[in-house]
Amino acid sequence: MLEAVNLYRTFTSDGVDYEVLKNVNLKINQGECVAIIGKSGSGKSTLMHLLACLDTPTLGRIMFEEQDVSILSEKERNLLRNEKFGFVFQQFFLNGRETVLENVLFPLRIRGMSQYKMIRAGMDALEAVDLKAKEDKKAKDLSGGEKQRVCIARALVGIPKVIFADEPTGNLDSNTGELIEKMLFDLNREKGITLIIVTHDSDLAKKCNRIIELKDGEIIKDKIKKGKKFEEAQKVDELTKTDSGQTSETSITS
Ligand SMILES: Nc1ncnc2c1ncn2[C@@H]1O[C@H](COP(=O)(O)OP(=O)(O)OP(=O)(O)O)[C@@H](O)[C@H]1O
Ligand SMILES: [Mg+2]
Repeated sequence: MLEAVNLYRTFTSDGVDYEVLKNVNLKINQGECVAIIGKSGSGKSTLMHLLACLDTPTLGRIMFEEQDVSILSEKERNLLRNEKFGFVFQQFFLNGRETVLENVLFPLRIRGMSQYKMIRAGMDALEAVDLKAKEDKKAKDLSGGEKQRVCIARALVGIPKVIFADEPTGNLDSNTGELIEKMLFDLNREKGITLIIVTHDSDLAKKCNRIIELKDGEIIKDKIKKGKKFEEAQKVDELTKTDSGQTSETSITS
């Protein structure tokens, strides 16, 4: 359902180009629970931003549900993100001055839903993260773990196809971290929401069904859980790169 094809991302800083992602090929199926691991600076967040259509690749493309997202207009891409994706990112801060419920309703506001339906969805989402009682509290007055739970409620309120989580348990104590983990895994198991988690925590990664490891912007391992063990995932058909740097769809068959 979500594919990276010959993906490159280069950042330029002080006139110098840094190839942060190099020829990443990857195919994620509906309902998978994927961990993206790798050292700091290896390109995990960059890859996640590209997969989530928050950034555009220098070369290559992202396919979502068989559609090349690079040909969508900005407005269409925003709509796609709003309807299909949920985010649990540390840098996607809550609005502290707004109430917990208002924060959760944020992604629904632009959908033109009726107030009644929206509030019901919001309260259901808050119930799922056990924060119904705090709906009226200002977001700034919550604890770190509670804020993260509000983020999860906001990520799931629109019933997305994919939830992207970047270090979802990074700043939390281990008990709260486990609670957040469980909530994310439950969403994956019970609602079939595809989960893509960037993490430094190897225990959390091992609980996923698939572990993708990045090193210096390249995928060096892609393993899928079979029973209790992880095995090398099937390689995405190699796509050839033409001399002009354009990608073509000729798959190499030997
Ligand atoms: N907007 C940007 N402009 C310039 N360089 C960037 C930008 N975003 C990321 N980079 C660079 O790309 C590299 C990879 O960054 P990225 O955030 O993807 O790493 P990461 O694997 O998520 O690391 P961490 O585990 O520390 O979060 C880093 O060297 C970073 O400096
Ligand atoms: Mg990162």
